Amino acid sequence: MLDIMPQKTTFSIIKADVGSIAGHQVVHPRLEEMAKESLEEAKSIGVLEDFYVTHCGDDLELIMTHRLGVDNPKVHELAWLTFNKAAEEAKNLHLYGAGQDLLVDAFAGNVRGLGPGSAEIEFQERPAEPIAVFMMDKTEPGTFNFPVYRMFADPFCSAGLIIDTAMHEGFRFEVWDIKAHRRVFFDCPEEMYDLLAFIGTKGQYVIKRVYARSGKVPEDEPVACVSTDKLSQIAGKYVGKDDPVALVRSQSGLPAMGEVLEAWSWPFMAAGWNRGSHNGPVIPVSMRDNRVSRFDGPPRAFGLGFQVGDAKLVGPVDLFDDPAFEPVRREAAELADYMRRHGPFEPHRLPMDEMEYTTMPQLMAKVKDRWEDVA
Ligand code: F6R
Ligand code: MG
Ligand code: MG
Repeated sequence: MLDIMPQKTTFSIIKADVGSIAGHQVVHPRLEEMAKESLEEAKSIGVLEDFYVTHCGDDLELIMTHRLGVDNPKVHELAWLTFNKAAEEAKNLHLYGAGQDLLVDAFAGNVRGLGPGSAEIEFQERPAEPIAVFMMDKTEPGTFNFPVYRMFADPFCSAGLIIDTAMHEGFRFEVWDIKAHRRVFFDCPEEMYDLLAFIGTKGQYVIKRVYARSGKVPEDEPVACVSTDKLSQIAGKYVGKDDPVALVRSQSGLPAMGEVLEAWSWPFMAAGWNRGSHNGPVIPVSMRDNRVSRFDGPPRAFGLGFQVGDAKLVGPVDLFDDPAFEPVRREAAELADYMRRHGPFEPHRLPMDEMEYTTMPQLMAKVKDRWEDVA
């Protein structure tokens, strides 16, 4: 008898900042409505199986399920056209930064390299498939290194790494060098120290995907995926931060949803914040606080949880909407205050080579004839 494999499901998130209210704070509800209309139409003609539109601060987030695989031109073009329509409306409404992340006029089959960020996973659905979608504003892709490492490699975060026999087999990390455009794989736990030696340099080495080693899901099927689009490199000049997104599958031999969330229980430092040029703590927030404020931040993480079945979305759950996250939010606010007092000094201000935009070239030119040699 022929063993017929069920169709695979693709879970995609594609995001862009196409304009916001009161500076770079939050997406206008009209843009979300327009995006919903656009994706509804795509669903009605069978391009999408399901979708959910939301925002993270000033980023418009398109969460989509379909059967077309990752990097599919139809899905990417749909996202591109949706962002362009929303950007037009943002111009009409005189929103701030209208069309900011749409860097080119012509679409060429894929949004990668054009400004928007994306994370996608194609998988054979398990009988029940819990997925977390994490979205961050005012920071960069490498900010995910710390929480993703904790979910899949740190037993002080994920008890399953010790207790669950499947998780005990460990996970494989695909790390991208986003400056040299190359990648390398590390098997954990045995190569944990090697992995950490790279991913601590989060502005260059970024966890792109994670794979399970237990055989609970096929070994070539990612269990986590992070957007690695680096706007500043695409454009060659400052055009806004490459605010990242990530997908994390969970349970049944993968980290429990609670372990995935535990990774956010401490306000780790991230590069970004005001003018993409400052270190600050990441605050995990619910929808209620899903917009930036003080000093254009501090950097925010927003999370939604879904069940996926037959490529349809069930949910979402607002993952950080829990008083249990109040201590981390309070600590983050205190750390933000502490960091702010450094003003223009490192380590609050980023080192020169990591600053997204800077007056240094002009300043260097201005004083170039005033330098005097010293012994
Ligand atoms: C950081 C960010 C903001 C802006 C800042 C200045 O990613 O978006 O902090 O850099 O508000 O914005 P402009 O130059 O548009 O006035
Ligand atoms: Mg913006
Ligand atoms: Mg943003």
